[in-house]
Amino acid sequence: MPGSAQMSVVGKPQRRIDGPVKVSGLAMYATDHNFPGMLYAVPVEATIANGKIENLDTGAAKRMPGVRAILHRANIGKIFRSTPGPGFAGICIERRPPFEDDVIRYYGQYVALAVADTFEAAKAAADAIGVTYSKDKPNVETDLKADEDPDEVDTTYGPVKRVQGERGDPEAAFANAAVKFDQTYVTPSETHNPIELQAATAIWDGDKLTIYEESQSIFNMRGVIAQMFGLPNENVRIITKFVGSGFGSKLWPWTHCPLAAAAARQVGKPVKLVLSRRMTFQSAGHRARTQQRVRLGATAEGKLVSLQQDYVYERSMLDEYHEDCGEATPFHYSVPNLWVKFGRAKRNIGTPSDMRGPGAVPGLYATESAMNELAEQLKMDPVKLRVLNEPKIDESLGIPFSSRHYLDCLELGVEKFGWSKRNPDIGSMKRDGLTLGWGMAGAAWVAARFPAEATIQLRDDGSTRVACGTQDIGTGTYTILAQLAAEKAGVPLDKVEVALGDTTLPAGPTSGGSMATASVIPAVSAAAKNANEQLLNIATTTPGSPFEKRKPNELTFEGGRVFITANGPAGGVPFADVLKRANVRLVTGSGKSEATFGEPKPKFSSHSFGCHFVEVTWQPEIARLRVNRVVTVIDAGRIINPLAGRNQIEGAVVMGIGMALLEHTTYDPQNGAPINSNLADYVMAVNADVPKLEVHFVEFPDTNLNELGARGIGEIGLAGIAAAITAATYHATGVRVRELPIRIEDLLTSSVLA
Ligand code: MOS
Repeated sequence: MPGSAQMSVVGKPQRRIDGPVKVSGLAMYATDHNFPGMLYAVPVEATIANGKIENLDTGAAKRMPGVRAILHRANIGKIFRSTPGPGFAGICIERRPPFEDDVIRYYGQYVALAVADTFEAAKAAADAIGVTYSKDKPNVETDLKADEDPDEVDTTYGPVKRVQGERGDPEAAFANAAVKFDQTYVTPSETHNPIELQAATAIWDGDKLTIYEESQSIFNMRGVIAQMFGLPNENVRIITKFVGSGFGSKLWPWTHCPLAAAAARQVGKPVKLVLSRRMTFQSAGHRARTQQRVRLGATAEGKLVSLQQDYVYERSMLDEYHEDCGEATPFHYSVPNLWVKFGRAKRNIGTPSDMRGPGAVPGLYATESAMNELAEQLKMDPVKLRVLNEPKIDESLGIPFSSRHYLDCLELGVEKFGWSKRNPDIGSMKRDGLTLGWGMAGAAWVAARFPAEATIQLRDDGSTRVACGTQDIGTGTYTILAQLAAEKAGVPLDKVEVALGDTTLPAGPTSGGSMATASVIPAVSAAAKNANEQLLNIATTTPGSPFEKRKPNELTFEGGRVFITANGPAGGVPFADVLKRANVRLVTGSGKSEATFGEPKPKFSSHSFGCHFVEVTWQPEIARLRVNRVVTVIDAGRIINPLAGRNQIEGAVVMGIGMALLEHTTYDPQNGAPINSNLADYVMAVNADVPKLEVHFVEFPDTNLNELGARGIGEIGLAGIAAAITAATYHATGVRVRELPIRIEDLLTSSVLA
């Protein structure tokens, strides 16, 4: 890669190269693939949340027209249990193979599967299957008290100690602190609602299985599905060319995927299974409800002396998904005495899972809210409180940050928002007959790399191809890969072909944890270097080549041209000419890079940082609260594509408005069903809820992570925003809401009345 000064594609705003196929309808999403003889499967959902299947009557369903099979526990055939593998492999949150027993543990658990010629016939058959249950009262209690658990618990991602971080003596420091703060914050269950529904289309060819699925991690899915069907990995192929968003819901395989594969095995035809929106609320993950007690002790001057975060989250009866609310707590502020502890509460619900900014997003809502409340108690500006408690190193690990520019974010945010004009008195700021509320909060999100492999081809027509088995979940990965390849090969963006979303390609990273971009950069670099070497060998060994008498190390390939380093690029030759003269169609360079995620002894603590400044408007006459203005500043290293990058942060802020004001999944205490399981009743922020959003990046390349210094940006924008909105709401209304979302009813007690 040329030095950063000469980069012509990376760092420039680029439109998405996949835009035209998406807006024209040519993009083939997972469910757009149809096959001769393909059948449709519709699962039957349990209508209780706790109990046992007593009887399953499939007689009527079997006789319905077009019905090919009714599958249930007795006839589905073997589906094995998957297990975690070394590294970050074999991840599956709901491990129980579908139909494994007759016990119902959550509402909507699949109990049978109808397979028919058409979707309509399969749906009718599924509806005609009669299930009787013995039922117990489901436990969907919203007040979370920790169950008995050992000090170290198994989780989806391996064993975790329930004391996640401890230093000093936080209890004593709290007891002796001049200023004490102690409150509990609650975040609700939230459900991801990507517009593209989850689905699997399974096709067997002998003992080879192909699945079209909208996965955020095709290689993980391949490994899990191979285990579930007792196959070698190479017999399973997962294809995911486009994803209509995921937000974490599509990271790991859900039970519909093995169901589709088992059905296809049984009927000997391709089978397509598309979840309904309701099913995605029940059995495809959600953000866990959390209850977090935060205690802060500070000096009268505002220096933190103690921080205690004790949180409890809900989990399902069998699964151990860990909602890591303490992810950012141990390092985000300087404090000598700290603990972060958690407990878990089992509920009769489908398992919680990763949702955009898992753990840190609810966690930072609590801790950043606490910082805002402490600032008020101290009669101190909340920005100043944060500046005062800026750490020099990661105090939890005792190592430096790879790059931390949180204070730069705060400074720029203050300036761009006009924060200095803030009058902290409740309800004191007015404009155009509206009461204004201003609030702010900080953000952090982990930065790391997954392992990645990639290839780059240079071709004799001057084009290039980059291939990596990662996914584009709507975030812009196609474009990023094209930018990297264009930069390396010195060709325009439209001369780059990008291949991703297929396990026949080099193993690519999960599109999760905001790590895909940081992960692919070194792999593509290594691949380019390898292609470069091959090209220069060809240049020096081809009879008649202008470089025939040279050695490869005397040559440079840069800006699309091969030239003698000492003579400079002007006398060079386009790489296509080098290949053509040698009658070589293409050279393929391979590269791979190692993970940094999960390193046992990291040298640096790597995170992205940021802050949000929010203005709400409050109309007491009609109890109307609106988010009116948001300024977000993000420190995520170098931004490879500022256009798509800004879009990521804006999207996350929109989701944050939903988190603060609207989103929550409610479970019916009678039958345990998520009762608002549709897009009408599960209210999310839409265009009308979203004001003008201002996004700024402070660009300090973090070259400890990769040569370009790019960290991830998919999740950081959602961290902290809810705390900024609740702070702004308090400033406008005088009502401090500590349970999300803020409801109109909460605000009716406002002292700022008409
Ligand atoms: Mo994200 S929750 O890692 O898709």
